[in-house]
Amino acid sequence: MTKNYPTVSEEYSKAVEKAKKKLRSLIAEKSCAPLMLRLAWHSAGTFDVKTKTGGPFGTMRYSAELAHGANNGLDIAVRLLEPIKEQFPILSYADFYQLAGVVAVEITGGPEVPFHPGREDKPEPPPEGRLPDATKGSDHLRDVFGHMGLSDKDIVALSGGHTLGRCHKERSGFEGPWTANPLIFDNSYFKELLSGEKEGLLQLPSDKALLSDPIFRPYVDKYAAVCTKNIICCCASGACQIHEKLLVSCCC
Ligand code: HEM
Repeated sequence: MTKNYPTVSEEYSKAVEKAKKKLRSLIAEKSCAPLMLRLAWHSAGTFDVKTKTGGPFGTMRYSAELAHGANNGLDIAVRLLEPIKEQFPILSYADFYQLAGVVAVEITGGPEVPFHPGREDKPEPPPEGRLPDATKGSDHLRDVFGHMGLSDKDIVALSGGHTLGRCHKERSGFEGPWTANPLIFDNSYFKELLSGEKEGLLQLPSDKALLSDPIFRPYVDKYAAVCTKNIICCCASGACQIHEKLLVSCCC
């Protein structure tokens, strides 16, 4: 699939590279890769394919969007990033937050995600309620991700983002990590899901839905078995849509 990405100036591209270096240091020093991936995903995941509204366009910097229930704790990410963002006024917040997600995946051992700059900042946050609810099941996941323009396979592959990080009681009401190494990006999320509940590890109702749904389940089995590193996108065809649409992460 060919896609026309926006073009940016040489000065802009250089700023991206410099910002990337600073992000690597910050994210490593603060061990905040999971939070940065969640920021990039929650920025992108508000995209509505029909109305072409929402999406990764820098609106998470507004307190109105940070106040959405699903975004609890992301004010910390925005605050951590601000001193670096200030050094690169040429960059849009839209690009900068996605770049933080790309670096988070890279420095935890995940795939090198191709980064295409050129997103513009939008002036208004999207409405609340476009992100998935962890207490719900397959129908809800299909509904919410369907609005983003994503498929069943995309839902399972993207859920692999939970290989990083943890739930915090005070942010989501849930507590604990999904894997034994929440700062390593690999396919252990899928392996843990298949191996059943374990003390100290967590499976959200929305994670368990991937096991019980007959269409989701084969993807879980496949990603647990074959992909040792590039878990977000394991499309054999190479026609991956995930990166194109959400600009979260892709390996092909
Ligand atoms: C499938 C639907 C999803 C649901 C219902 C969901 C729900 C949640 C919840 C409840 C938390 C805990 C927040 C907290 O307490 O700090 C969380 C954390 C996280 N989510 Fe998701 N999520 C979903 C999909 C995704 C996707 C697609 C990605 C990325 C590709 C992702 C990446 C993360 C990361 C990295 C964290 C850990 C954040 C941290 O450690 O601070 N999630 N998610």
